[in-house]
Amino acid sequence: MAIPIIAVANQKGGVGKTTTCVNLAACLAERRKRILLIDLDPQANATSGLGLEKKDGASIYRALLGEMPLDPLIQKTAMDRLDVVPSELDLAGAEVDIARADRYLHRFKEAVAPVAASDRYDYILVDCPPSLGILTMNALAGSESLLIPIQCEYYALEGLSVIAKLIQRISDSGANPGLRIEGIVLTMYDVRTNLSQQVVQEVLNHFGDRVFETLIPRSVRLSEAPSYGKPVILYDRHCTGSAAYRQLAREFLKRRKLAGREQDEGEEAPAHAEAPPAPPPPPPDPAAAEPVPAPPPPPAP
Ligand SMILES: Nc1ncnc2c1ncn2[C@@H]1O[C@H](COP(=O)(O)OP(=O)(O)OP(=O)(O)O)[C@@H](O)[C@H]1O
Ligand SMILES: [Mg+2]
Repeated sequence: MAIPIIAVANQKGGVGKTTTCVNLAACLAERRKRILLIDLDPQANATSGLGLEKKDGASIYRALLGEMPLDPLIQKTAMDRLDVVPSELDLAGAEVDIARADRYLHRFKEAVAPVAASDRYDYILVDCPPSLGILTMNALAGSESLLIPIQCEYYALEGLSVIAKLIQRISDSGANPGLRIEGIVLTMYDVRTNLSQQVVQEVLNHFGDRVFETLIPRSVRLSEAPSYGKPVILYDRHCTGSAAYRQLAREFLKRRKLAGREQDEGEEAPAHAEAPPAPPPPPPDPAAAEPVPAPPPPPAP
């Protein structure tokens, strides 16, 4: 059976795609799942957030053009079961080159197919750029499902209809009739604001049980970790951000198990066994005292 490929996408910028992709990947690896993260965003934020340098020729670009296999592009990270295909700015050029190529919607699928057909990984997660360009379309055409982070802010729902239409279009075109929504993850939740709670309620009203119960709180640690090149669980394993993404990984596996798509929810391996020597302790997290927020009650029928 092919390895499930899950695209983390939303055409809106800055909603927490990369933070979710990197930290969900790390927390799944911590639960003993073998993960390949493919950075498909020319901004390469997932690449630097995992502590890798952006190097010319290291991205998936040439594999997308069919010029080389994906395998040699896979790199190790600081975590045992987490590998990455990094990105670099040049990947921006792929939009133009792929658009000119044959079967331009299927380039990603074809590039990843040999790895996806192996049993090297349990999941492949794809960090998409903030657009609905060729790279994102390729990821959607080649993925089993789509995980959509939504920021808890006023314009949160704007653009979701765009994604829904896009899924429809991809499916209608025959490019990927089976594409599902894996789930919607609400990010940057601020327990202190009514706005956050209203957004959660509204998203629940629209999408019901497609919304993950786990809410990702605003956490200073989550925004600091990438500048240390680490997923949050290696940066401050006890902060609210670490707790939230661990909970998301548990919920992700549990939902898949309930849907018959996963056999084993995994168990948490001690992350500190894999962490490099401890860095100097970070300053206190202003949000440390906040527990991971409980989800609001389900919408009234
Ligand atoms: N839960 C959070 N708490 C605090 N800061 C966060 C949180 N999630 C993300 N951020 C910060 O918000 C910014 C945007 O997040 P991120 O890069 O994950 O979004 P994105 O959707 O991938 O952005 P882009 O569309 O540019 O790719 C980053 O500076 C990130 O560190
Ligand atoms: Mg990003």
